[in-house]
Amino acid sequence: MVRYLNIDTATRISKIGLGTWQFGSSEWGYGKPYAEQESQAIVRRALELGVTLFDTAEIYGYGRSERILGQAISGHRDQVFLATKILPVLPLPPIVQQRAVASADRLGVSRIDLYQVHQPNPFVKDSVIMRGMRPLQRIGLVGEVGVSNYSRGRWKAAEDALGGRVLSNQVRYSLVADGPTDDLIPYAERSGRVVIAYSPLAQGFLSGRYDASTRPSNRVRASSALFLPVNLERAAGLFRVLREVAEAHDATPAQAALAWAIRSPAVTAIPGASSVAQLESNVAAAEIDLTDDEWRALRDAATAFQPATGPAALPPLVRARLGR
Ligand SMILES: NC(=O)c1ccc[n+]([C@@H]2O[C@H](COP(=O)([O-])OP(=O)(O)OC[C@H]3O[C@@H](n4cnc5c(N)ncnc54)[C@H](OP(=O)(O)O)[C@@H]3O)[C@@H](O)[C@H]2O)c1
Repeated sequence: MVRYLNIDTATRISKIGLGTWQFGSSEWGYGKPYAEQESQAIVRRALELGVTLFDTAEIYGYGRSERILGQAISGHRDQVFLATKILPVLPLPPIVQQRAVASADRLGVSRIDLYQVHQPNPFVKDSVIMRGMRPLQRIGLVGEVGVSNYSRGRWKAAEDALGGRVLSNQVRYSLVADGPTDDLIPYAERSGRVVIAYSPLAQGFLSGRYDASTRPSNRVRASSALFLPVNLERAAGLFRVLREVAEAHDATPAQAALAWAIRSPAVTAIPGASSVAQLESNVAAAEIDLTDDEWRALRDAATAFQPATGPAALPPLVRARLGR
């Protein structure tokens, strides 16, 4: 049973969506069979299960993710709440508009349900970017406008600039990146907005699949301090609590981690998946209702996990990158 957000959108938004950065991106390293076949099978299965939210970006695989996703949803357009993002390098109004048209073209659609600004631009104000967005909404090429990696203050400023709702803020949110719990999420709950949780499994870290002797090798995770052996060891306590909570629900650690992230009615998560089985497991996580005690026990275990980051993590990261 897929669950949906209780918010008025043209197509309802599933509590678990699908992130598609993995589609056709060399940094995830899943290869050609994944880009050509598995990705199509993952989207087909997601649609069968009732998933509506599919997230991509013009930058993922330099347009390949949008193309792969567009091909996979063709014939099912009405079942989908389709989200993509502009990389706001020089987001002047005509450029925003030209880039939206190019994304829609790659996706093979005449409407982008949610068009998100991928990052706050430090130099160009939202008043400028939103001047590009407004006509896109007026002509119907864009349904809702969203932002990503925005602070609460800048999210509100974007909304003032648009003169209408900026539906969502897509941010990193998981047990090991829980900043939004006390800031963005209460704001979204109060104001009928949505937090879209990206990397809700901390890129597979919270799956319990990896330890100091079994580490993922692709580029995304080789350059992440989280996957250093020292941090996988330090996370033993967190992994133990994740396993205990998961077992109480006859679930996997990844499912418990997702259930933790989507507990608020204002949050939807968009885990990526390397297989159909993972997608099925992630969708099923929406059925898990954690108790208050379980949610807190997980948060306490995550708070107690102090990963090596910053300068301390640099030498081992370089060694890991060089395979030593
Ligand atoms: N707005 C932004 O700035 C931004 C940034 C990053 C991501 N995103 C979006 O968020 C999406 C998700 O984030 P993400 O891909 O960074 O991280 P994620 O969803 O936390 O992790 C995805 C990875 O976790 C593993 N996994 C997934 N389901 C699993 C399961 N049930 N059991 C065990 N392992 C599982 C898979 O890797 P393995 O099987 O290889 O271990 C998968 O590729 C992206 O696809 C993208 O759409 C947005």
